[in-house]
Amino acid sequence: MLETIGYLIGTAGASGFSSKSTAEQVTDLCPDLRPITAIITGATSGIGAETARVLAKRGARLVLPARSFKAAEETKGRILAEFPGSEIIVMGLDLSKLDSVRRFVAEFESLNLPLNLLINNAGKFSYDHGVTEDGIEMTFATNYLGHFLLTKLLLKKMIETAKTSGVQGRIVNVSSSIHTWFSGDMIHYLTLITKNKSEYDGTRAYALSKLANEMEANVTANCVHPGIVRTRLTRDHLVFFLASKLLKTITQAAATSCYVATDPRLENVNGKYFSDCNEASASKLGSSSAEAARLWAASETMVSKPR
Ligand SMILES: NC(=O)c1ccc[n+]([C@@H]2O[C@H](COP(=O)([O-])OP(=O)(O)OC[C@H]3O[C@@H](n4cnc5c(N)ncnc54)[C@H](OP(=O)(O)O)[C@@H]3O)[C@@H](O)[C@H]2O)c1
Repeated sequence: MLETIGYLIGTAGASGFSSKSTAEQVTDLCPDLRPITAIITGATSGIGAETARVLAKRGARLVLPARSFKAAEETKGRILAEFPGSEIIVMGLDLSKLDSVRRFVAEFESLNLPLNLLINNAGKFSYDHGVTEDGIEMTFATNYLGHFLLTKLLLKKMIETAKTSGVQGRIVNVSSSIHTWFSGDMIHYLTLITKNKSEYDGTRAYALSKLANEMEANVTANCVHPGIVRTRLTRDHLVFFLASKLLKTITQAAATSCYVATDPRLENVNGKYFSDCNEASASKLGSSSAEAARLWAASETMVSKPR
């Protein structure tokens, strides 16, 4: 109850920010972002577009991967109109297609750019059931699995950048408080809805995908999976965050992403869950290392399956 009242009136938390803080306010005192290169998925609208606008305002070079070049060019045009000196690169990426993720990473690597910041923001909710060309349920594939593969393939570049620049890399997974709505066996439900349209429930599928977003950051941060090169994925060079969002204005909704992506006080803070620009508690299931490791193993299998 107290928490709800605090949210509604915008009571500041330990960070000094609240549910009412805007993306611009939380980045007011952040360092000059001109040395920073950031990839932001889902920047053609909503939270991602505002995150991109504010990071460009603070000087970051942006790479905006999108499935619609036209929409991404429009985002770029809006940002350039406001901040003419911005460097913005638009590239193709459909997160629901694993081959598209692989192509994007290959194309990005060919640009020879550094990579300091990865904001896994793109997401969808759908009442309609769909299965991707890789044979994965569509919401899970878009919101989670595409980002899982994207992160996995970009890690080497991020670690290299962190080493050469001496600046910590940050990965932000945009989850949702709706992740708490999922209960049960994640892999079982995913298998069920992938195979059987009649079992599909849009809200439950969305909650599952957002829970997976949260677990991914949890498990990666703790390096519990043997598939990860533990010594390279060091806490001093890579920081993982989770941003949880509740319905609010876009510039308030983008505040948590911008806060965790830029605030210098969060150096060395790893694998934490944030809501309204303050550290918060993830759900019990979301904090389960055993479940996270299980999801990780299943994800590795899904992204390595020959088509
Ligand atoms: N808004 C909220 O109240 C809220 C609350 C909690 C969490 N969130 C989370 O915040 C994130 C952003 O939400 P939003 O409300 O800003 O969403 P939005 O306005 O609907 O934007 C979603 C973005 O994701 C992109 N996207 C969707 N499917 C994609 C795909 N297959 N490949 C590449 N990009 C794809 C969209 O691109 P297109 O232009 O191609 O469609 C768009 O840029 C999501 O992860 C969402 O789950 C939002």
